Amino acid sequence: MKHDRSNRIRELIGQRTVLPVLVIDDAAKAVPLARALADGGLKLIEITLRTPAALSAIAAIAEALPGIEVGAGTVCDASDARHAQKAGARFAVSPGHATNLGKACAELGLPYLPGVATASEVMAARNDGYDVMKFFPAEAAGGLAMLAALAGPFPDVMFCPTGGIDAANAPAYLARSNVLCVGGSWIAPRDEVTAGHWAKLTGLAAAAARLQRGG
Ligand code: 3PG
Repeated sequence: MKHDRSNRIRELIGQRTVLPVLVIDDAAKAVPLARALADGGLKLIEITLRTPAALSAIAAIAEALPGIEVGAGTVCDASDARHAQKAGARFAVSPGHATNLGKACAELGLPYLPGVATASEVMAARNDGYDVMKFFPAEAAGGLAMLAALAGPFPDVMFCPTGGIDAANAPAYLARSNVLCVGGSWIAPRDEVTAGHWAKLTGLAAAAARLQRGG
């Protein structure tokens, strides 16, 4: 089976091991936050479409910081994907997978990371041509044991676990051979963003950027 639909997401992730998942309440905080994370070494970021400010936040970062790869998270349908791309998102991440969402992203030329939590969902995404998948919600869906179990039948699939990942458990996830990167909000806690504690956020980003695959 040919799995070429994940090529561009693979390229974007490259050697990166951590994808910050950001919830932005105030679009005015987007650029200083992205700059703080980039100063710590994290230049690939996901802004979740969970707040009214999300699309403006993506647009502000795309405009002001072209060196940062900003993507949209919580992309649940084709309309989300279109709005995200129009705002300047360079990739789309979904908590799940739907064939028509994947097709819409392919038509838009928007790299797409589908989400899975079960063997059947892995099979459906694989069948649609993807071999890099977000594993969500990682901790609630079986965590490390589930990833080990999925490696048996799906040796060709790489996962980006998110949901319950933090500085303490990220190294164990990255030690798994079927984990490409981990994602999460621990790098940019909502209250620290609201308070504008940029130096602290740069420190959290720098610690995350030091995480390596293979533990
Ligand atoms: C996501 O969308 O990837 C998750 O909500 C991130 O989960 P976390 O907040 O537990 O890191």
